[in-house]
Amino acid sequence: MKKIALALVCLCGISFAADYDPVKAEMLSLSCASCHGTDGKSNGITPTLAGMGKTSMNKILLDFKYGRQTGTMMQKHVKGFSDEELEQVSYYFSKVKR
Ligand code: HEC
Repeated sequence: MKKIALALVCLCGISFAADYDPVKAEMLSLSCASCHGTDGKSNGITPTLAGMGKTSMNKILLDFKYGRQTGTMMQKHVKGFSDEELEQVSYYFSKVKR
């Protein structure tokens, strides 16, 4: 149902940021689910991503990628993503209801 709703939103051209690609973003988000839970709803070990602000999440991801922030896992994981992909995935999680 959520996918249908997203598709309708796209068809109607209601404005996402110009280049938000919900399908790509959701696919990228799957690589986070193994640790952060389905749709970023963590079962408690890792932080919950669902509903985090897009801008703050994107900043954290870039900080991990460029070594401004270190963790146990994240700085390794995000190196496989382009900056644009990290922005897409931040947008995706910001839209998930907690
Ligand atoms: C291998 C497990 C693993 C995967 C895969 C993973 N994470 Fe994480 N994530 C963690 C852990 C563990 C932390 C806590 C910081 C640390 O130790 O690295 C974390 C922290 C974070 C934080 C910081 C949250 C906060 O409140 O400070 C964000 C944002 C985040 N992850 C986003 C993502 C996104 C987006 C993906 C997919 C692109 C992802 N993570 C994939 C394990 C993972």
